[in-house]
Amino acid sequence: MSSRQTRWFLVTAVAALVLAAWTGVLMRFGMVYGFPGWAQNFGAMRHAHSHLMYFGWVTLALMALIWAELPQLTGRQLPRGAAMQMTLTAVMALLSFPAFWINGYGLTTVGAARLPLGSIAATLNGLTWFVFIALYVRATRRLAVRPPAVQLWDWALALLALASTGAVGLIWMVATAAREPLFQQIFLHLFLDLFAVGWFTLGLLGVLWARLNVQQLRLPIFSLALLLTPTFLLGVSPGLLPASLFWAAAIANAGAALLLSVHGVQLWRRCSRRPTLTWLALGGLASVIVMAFLLLLPDVWQRFASGQMRVFYLHVFLLVWVSTALVGQIQDQFASDSPWIRRWVNPLWVGGVVVMVIGLLGLGLAPWLGMPMLWWLHVSAWGSLAAATAATLLLVALLSPAPARATLAAAMSPQ
Ligand code: HEM
Repeated sequence: MSSRQTRWFLVTAVAALVLAAWTGVLMRFGMVYGFPGWAQNFGAMRHAHSHLMYFGWVTLALMALIWAELPQLTGRQLPRGAAMQMTLTAVMALLSFPAFWINGYGLTTVGAARLPLGSIAATLNGLTWFVFIALYVRATRRLAVRPPAVQLWDWALALLALASTGAVGLIWMVATAAREPLFQQIFLHLFLDLFAVGWFTLGLLGVLWARLNVQQLRLPIFSLALLLTPTFLLGVSPGLLPASLFWAAAIANAGAALLLSVHGVQLWRRCSRRPTLTWLALGGLASVIVMAFLLLLPDVWQRFASGQMRVFYLHVFLLVWVSTALVGQIQDQFASDSPWIRRWVNPLWVGGVVVMVIGLLGLGLAPWLGMPMLWWLHVSAWGSLAAATAATLLLVALLSPAPARATLAAAMSPQ
């Protein structure tokens, strides 16, 4: 895949980030001022937002960055079909947005039929991921030496495949009309949470280590993948999960946090080669690690696992850590000469993301502190506006032709 093609897939991923982020802004301001008539189905909107973020933003960006780094690590050309797979992944991810926007995972009337458009979109996306896994296995088969980045991607894709079995379990429950709520939750969170915690974490660490060109360092990889696996159980409702399973998951989660901190510290120590925004991303990772240990305190998980604190946790993990690191990587590779980036994108992104998650934390704690929630809803809404604006400016910078960027850079640099 050429650098030009990689750039276009990353532009598509950033376009997905922009669309999903503005959907998030609509939801955040809707919670304060009410929703417009054309946006009344909050559940469907939330699904459209989260699935486009997962499929179109993070998954597409990670795959593009993995294909971009792989030839250097393996000394081999990419398999034929990689560009076609990426095109299919991008198209399916973008189509998931209207599919979920209409009615989420519910049935939609199309002509004479009632179709589960969201489930169809998720299945088609899943099929393109399996094509990616097959091509990746072909590209890395029987390597004499597997660098740390390749090992991380091996396990990231193993956990992506394992997460997909959760979707199979959900379909099996629908087909057999099984109604066991614990199994329904276990399959649901195996799919959603392991997808994020397994594929995103290990895939992103692989990209970061590949960019730093680290070949020799001993890093915890297999043990990290093993400990991350059962952590999806922490997504299950506290009322349903037996105490023994909670403790197994919480202890594995703390162990994984410890190993993640080894990666975090080693990445931090390579300060001189640290790409833009990595400090904010590593701050997000550090917060995720601290929260893993807080879950070991009595009753913390039972009290805070659902509701607003879950939304807060998800956005620290997905926005502050994963998305900020990806935005930094994309800027460094494809838009480092843009004046918008230094002047506007980075300050707006950092400010917006930090204010938004502070608002979400306030929302989560407000009932316990006896504070009004409306104030925190305002804080998170205005923070989200800044973050979405930053993402939009990044897209504009990526779409501007290089000569225009250079002229602007010269015009805006201090004399
Ligand atoms: C500008 C950035 C973002 C904004 C404004 C935003 C906004 C929102 C809002 C308003 C919700 C619904 C919260 C609720 O139900 O109370 C939500 C949920 C969610 N968001 Fe975001 N978000 C952003 C970034 C992200 C990113 C980067 C990801 C993933 C990569 C993500 C994944 C999710 C997920 C998984 C949910 C929960 C969905 C569910 O429970 O069905 N968000 N977000």
